[in-house]
Amino acid sequence: MIFVTGGAGFIGSNFILDWAAQRREPVLNIDALTYAGNAENLAAIAAAKDDGTYRFEQVDICDEAAVSALFATHRPRAILHFAAESHVDRSILGPAEFVRTNINGTFNLLQCALAYWKSLDADEAAAFRFLHVSTDEVYGSLGPDDAPFSETTPYAPNSPYSASKAASDHLVRAYFHTYGLPVLTTNCSNNYGPFQFPEKLIPLTITNALEGEPLPIYGDGKNVRDWLFVGDHCSAIALVLEKGRPGEVYNVGGMNERTNLEVVHTLCATLDALRPKPSGKYADQITYVKDRPGHDRRYAIDATKLTTELGWKPAENFETGMDRTVRWYLDNQPWVAHVKDGSYRHWIERQYADRGGADDATVEVLEGHPT
Ligand code: NAD
Ligand code: TYD
Repeated sequence: MIFVTGGAGFIGSNFILDWAAQRREPVLNIDALTYAGNAENLAAIAAAKDDGTYRFEQVDICDEAAVSALFATHRPRAILHFAAESHVDRSILGPAEFVRTNINGTFNLLQCALAYWKSLDADEAAAFRFLHVSTDEVYGSLGPDDAPFSETTPYAPNSPYSASKAASDHLVRAYFHTYGLPVLTTNCSNNYGPFQFPEKLIPLTITNALEGEPLPIYGDGKNVRDWLFVGDHCSAIALVLEKGRPGEVYNVGGMNERTNLEVVHTLCATLDALRPKPSGKYADQITYVKDRPGHDRRYAIDATKLTTELGWKPAENFETGMDRTVRWYLDNQPWVAHVKDGSYRHWIERQYADRGGADDATVEVLEGHPT
């Protein structure tokens, strides 16, 4: 069997659903069910798989005794580590949880995996993998003409989130070099798709648009991200698990650089076509708000190593992926209603209440760059 940590979150649940649709190898999902974890994401598979091929354990990855016991009981051939605190804005308001889960949690998993790996016979030990799922944000921010991030770009994390992920990447690397633990690391660009928690730009925009709420754009809206449909990230992870060379890092990206304004306008146009408003356009709800502190200007990924060495190719382009995503949110309104609960509303209040409209400096920039 394989272990998946954070399998009740956005990418982890997509990974488990895709894995179960394609293979029969059992999966154990290890997730603490924080605000970002949602067992409902896996309801279909939990109901369909009564043969033990899908199991769930509500365990904190920092809990050494519980994680060690899971290794001893289930004897996995691999662990895929998705569990993390993942939202940059939350890391700005409360960095401690990011240090705890992303750094201490990864350290604990490495310790438990290492002890287990040392107990395996030679063939099992050679086949074992620890796959660490990380982000392109560890590389910092690019200028408009800089080359995209490659696997050899020096680390320069700028937010507590990216700094905590960078620390975890370094620990993973060290366990290979020092102890020989067969690790793999993937650094991926921004994901979007079904089951993404509506604190992130794309689901926040879709769900706010449908509720007639403002669509908040930080600063001048010209920050650039590379966007990848979540299913393509999952196929890359499965391929790296199967064919990646232990100790190696693989960058994963969509070759889809867009400004935040382009993303939001694409979403609005898609909604205008699929669910027109009685009057006006969704883009009328766009509202400029105060910028995120330390906001990275541009991310871009060079995924040549993954495409040439392992033969990975994304199935979706930006337009098809966005269309699928908008349709999923339109078709899954009960899921949206459940996750936008009391604690979600509390977060939105805390995050956006004192942002107001654009501050003066931003307004000057906006006037120079009409949308
Ligand atoms: P998410 O926030 O949607 O889900 C995180 C999951 O981890 C949740 O189910 C949560 O309950 C669980 N979790 C958190 N703390 C835990 C703990 N201490 N013990 C056990 N479980 C815990 O995150 P996501 O967007 O699915 O991201 C998954 C991974 O992919 C993260 O490591 C993230 O850094 C990385 N990543 C994300 C993106 C993106 O665009 N979302 C891009 C590149 C890499
Ligand atoms: P986000 O989805 O939080 O991902 P990340 O910060 O990890 O890239 O944000 C994507 C981009 O959208 C980022 O440049 C910040 C911007 N953004 C807004 O303009 N408004 C918002 O309300 C949010 C949540 C993000």
